[in-house]
Parts: sequence; C-alpha cells; structure tokens
Amino acid sequence: MTPRFVTLPEIRRAARARLPRDAWNFGAGGAETETTRRRNRRALDRLAIAQRVLVDVREIDLRTSLLGVPLSWPVAVAPMGGLVLFHAAGDLEMARGCGAADTLQFLSGATGWPVEEVAKAGAGPKMFQLYHHGDRGWVAELLARVEASGYHAVCLTVDVQVLGRRERDILNRYDPREAMRIAPNPRGPDPEYQARLTWDDVDWLGKTTRLPIGLKGLMTVRDARRAVEAGVRLVWVSNHGGRQLDHAEGAVDALPRIVDAVGGRAEIVVDGGFGRGTDVLKGLARGAAVVAVGRAALWGLAADGAAGVACALDILRRELRTTMALAGQTCVRRLDPELVFRVDENRS
Ligand SMILES: Cc1cc2nc3c(=O)[nH]c(=O)nc-3n(C[C@H](O)[C@H](O)[C@H](O)COP(=O)(O)O)c2cc1C
Repeated sequence: MTPRFVTLPEIRRAARARLPRDAWNFGAGGAETETTRRRNRRALDRLAIAQRVLVDVREIDLRTSLLGVPLSWPVAVAPMGGLVLFHAAGDLEMARGCGAADTLQFLSGATGWPVEEVAKAGAGPKMFQLYHHGDRGWVAELLARVEASGYHAVCLTVDVQVLGRRERDILNRYDPREAMRIAPNPRGPDPEYQARLTWDDVDWLGKTTRLPIGLKGLMTVRDARRAVEAGVRLVWVSNHGGRQLDHAEGAVDALPRIVDAVGGRAEIVVDGGFGRGTDVLKGLARGAAVVAVGRAALWGLAADGAAGVACALDILRRELRTTMALAGQTCVRRLDPELVFRVDENRS
C-alpha cells in the first residue's frame, strides 16, 4: 500500500491541521520562554556529520539492543501522557503503530489505559515509564502488573518535581487533565506531585521490582554518577523535550559528558528535539545506545493513528539508512567516533 505521507514535515503539517489549537500547543510547546525546547534543536543543528566515502554500504545493520532486549533499530518512542488528546485510542493506537514499525515503545505512567491492554495492543517490545506519586503501596501494585504484562524495564521520570510552566497552555486557559477528563485517583497523584522524590525512592524502587530500572531526566554528570552507584541500568539524558526546566542545556550537548561519566556501567538513552535520521545518527555517534523520539511519533498519531505512527517511524528509519550510507557507516553499534563534530556557526 502506498503510504499516505512521504516526509516527516508533511506528517507534522497534517497533525497540526487536524488537531484543535489547544491540543497542538500542548504537544508542541515547552516551558516558559521555550529556550530549552529550541536549544535541543539548535544543539543538534550545531553538529556536523563527516562525509566518509568509498566504503561499501550496500548492507547497513541497524540492529541493536537495550538492557538485553534485541531491537531492530536504535530508536524508541518516548513516553507521552495525554495521548487521548491526539487520538481517541491514544496509547493503544501508539502501541499498534510501534508494533507495525517494530519499534520499542515506552508507555507513559500517565497513560489512561490499563498497562495490560497496551501490552496486548502492539507486537513491539515495551518498557514502562513510572511517575512515582508518593504512595509506595500504589506504585508497588502497579509495578507488579507491569512485570506480569511483559514490560522489559521500568524507568522513573525524575525531572517533574513540579510541573513546568507551559505558557501556551496557561495562556489558552487549557488544562490537559481536565481536557482528558481524568477522574481523581483516591490513591493517586500526591498534590505535590513528585516534589518529595529523593535517591531513597530510587533505592526503594530497585528493591521493589525485579525489572531493570532506569532514570529519565538526568542532565548532569553528578546525577548520572549517583544513578550508576544506585544500581540504575539505564541513564536517560533528557530535559523532557524542553517542557520542564527552561534554560536547561540542549540534551545532545549534555550527552558526551554523561556517557564519559557513566563509563559503560549503564546504557544511555537520549531524547529532545530528535526528528530526523541525521539527528538519530548524531545521538548514536555521541554514545547513546538508543535515541528516543517524542513529538515526531506524536504527530504521526495525530495525523493518522497507528498508520501515521508507523509511517513516521518508517520514514525516520529510511532517513537513518540513507544518512549511514552517505556517512560511510555500516553498523550502528560500531560508529566511527569522529563521525560527528561541532561546527562554529552563530546561526544554524
Ligand atoms: C505531549 C507530551 C507528553 C509527554 N508526557 C510525558 C510523560 O508522561 N512522561 C515522561 O517521562 N515524559 C513525557 N514527555 C516527554 C517525552 O517523553 C520526551 O522526553 C520528549 O518529548 C522528547 O522530546 P521531543 O518531543 O522533542 O522528541 C511528554 C512529551 C510530550 C510532547
């Protein structure tokens, strides 16, 4: 079947045209001045890729693994809450799209669907993102269900101590929770959200689940080292797509320092502004095992449900293959360390 969309910007335009203005802004926006959101993109644009030629690139191997889980390619869909605002079948549809494109999905802890149903909805590998709301009993029960449903890891998001001030939503008088009509969970979110999370909770998490644990939202060497000492196996370099701390560093800029500090003791995932095959190659060359995409997949969901997600991921995969070939690279697990370098440009 001929795919409905042929480029990623076309998908983004279709999503924008279909979505109500407030939902579009909720997805596209960032915190306050949106400096972090733009910086993610600029940091990627400041990196150049070396153009290596005269290498036989007929065979390109995109296969890799994360925490022992084999993956057909090194891209994952980042956890996103509120998917129902983008498609009526939200997380289920995202799972179907990821399954069709054989792509690792991180299910958001803010999902409106039971974890069991999402696990059954799509054939691709899945990991679970946790929001710890302060009630350990509730979290332990949830994690038992996550384990039983076949998720391969649990990743605690740590950069939402309080919710970032998303000014587009504030200006639009738009409350995504209200828009989703989430019924208050009697044992659910602590009013202070995750404000009281500390390393003690990470230790507790490690003792509470049999699954390998990750932390999402680490941006400093100090926190990454501490995470490894706490037994964390997946370090996720992320500023939440610029939706939390405004004026944080671009994620791909923080990446090499964190890769060095971790020194192979944990696996690295990065996200923030990655939306092209060239971007993915940059993240991998700088030491991430897997690059995660948020909005790039979200626009696919909004544009055409599972088919849109699969289409976006397939285009991204095709772009990655093309970039690998034109950069003289044949295997994502053995990229030339000098492949990506910073260029001095005032504007990109
Ligand atoms: C609509 C939306 C909802 C999100 N919800 C969550 C969430 O529930 N949990 C989480 O850890 N991150 C969440 N994020 C952040 C993403 O996981 C990811 O870090 C970010 O989107 C990556 O940047 P990108 O969109 O530029 O690829 C959300 C992002 C968006 C756009």
